[in-house]
Amino acid sequence: MELKVGATEVMIVSGLRGGLLPEREGRRRVAIITQPGASQQAVLVSRRLKEANLDVDVLGVPDREEAKTLNVAATLYERFSRIGLGREDTIVGVGGGAVTDLAGFVAGTWMRGVEVVHFPTTLLGAVDASIGGKTGVNLSGKNLVGVFWDPTRVIIDLDVLEKLPSALLQEGMAEALKAGLIGDADLVEAIEADGLEVSLDKVVPAAVKVKAEYVKKDPRESSERAMLNFGHTVGHAVEYASSFSHGTSVGVGMVAAAAVSEADVGFAEKERVIDAISRIGLRTSVNGLDRTRVRDLIGVDKKRDRKGIRMVLLEAIGQPTLRHVDDTMINLALEAIGL
Ligand SMILES: NC(=O)c1ccc[n+]([C@@H]2O[C@H](COP(=O)([O-])OP(=O)(O)OC[C@H]3O[C@@H](n4cnc5c(N)ncnc54)[C@H](O)[C@@H]3O)[C@@H](O)[C@H]2O)c1
Ligand SMILES: [Zn+2]
Repeated sequence: MELKVGATEVMIVSGLRGGLLPEREGRRRVAIITQPGASQQAVLVSRRLKEANLDVDVLGVPDREEAKTLNVAATLYERFSRIGLGREDTIVGVGGGAVTDLAGFVAGTWMRGVEVVHFPTTLLGAVDASIGGKTGVNLSGKNLVGVFWDPTRVIIDLDVLEKLPSALLQEGMAEALKAGLIGDADLVEAIEADGLEVSLDKVVPAAVKVKAEYVKKDPRESSERAMLNFGHTVGHAVEYASSFSHGTSVGVGMVAAAAVSEADVGFAEKERVIDAISRIGLRTSVNGLDRTRVRDLIGVDKKRDRKGIRMVLLEAIGQPTLRHVDDTMINLALEAIGL
């Protein structure tokens, strides 16, 4: 199946077939950037591209966030220089969101921008990070340095995602559920019905479509695209105040956002949100965390503006709205997650 997201062709496949890269005159070299957990897939992609008579270098980077640094980016630029990666050549990211964020960033900046193609190998990468052109590396804060740089193609191989360990499935499923809650009631139903066993055949295209629609309306995230932050205002605060993963924290953040939605805009399906998060196997409360610290961290990130803290709320499933919330609502959000 193929979807268009702006300039990007998203291909959802089962097994790698065909030429993989879009036609491009003058392309001689490909630099594949990959991480430890994706090395098998990187080998497959590399073999395919060599068969197409391209000069291929596989450049491994450290795992997870360790890859998203200016130092690692600098090492990659040095490698590109040594192998002679030119303006007509292509950078390929094979891995989770950390790899596609980094690969997109170095592609957007090497020689003022060369082509990038992504092969996301985690569910989160497939339904979220590889879609929409945001790239970046971390400084003291996450994703502080970056560019918008659209991949020409994203190839999501469902066969790879089927084999993911459940912790990685949960990470992506939290974002897929988020996509459903802000834009696709059927997707929410599917996750409610089958939890982590839900067919990826159904989940991946549906979640990609929701993200694609928001990106299309607002490619540079100045308005509508902010809806994709549903669950992330409280979620990020929980993540920074704990050792919970991003997906776990966003799950909890969605419970908080559902509670505020109920109180502030009359959302009637809070319990369904909580049930769906439980079905994925994620926690719905975080009692034990330092309440004051979580409270202080809410709104430290980008969701704050001059008028205060903004939160994405739900009027109904599939109908998000961006609202300023006051202290009463923040307290209610914290209570809803056991703080
Ligand atoms: N650009 C965006 O719009 C956007 C959106 C959401 C998230 N992100 C970014 O994405 C990153 C998180 O992505 P992630 O959760 O994919 O994390 P990740 O890239 O850190 O990968 C998580 C782990 O999965 C392993 N892995 C990768 N593929 C695997 C496979 N097929 N089988 C087994 N293990 C595998 C990796 O080696 C790593 O240990 C964060 O840096 C976040 O900022 C970006
Ligand atoms: Zn997220």
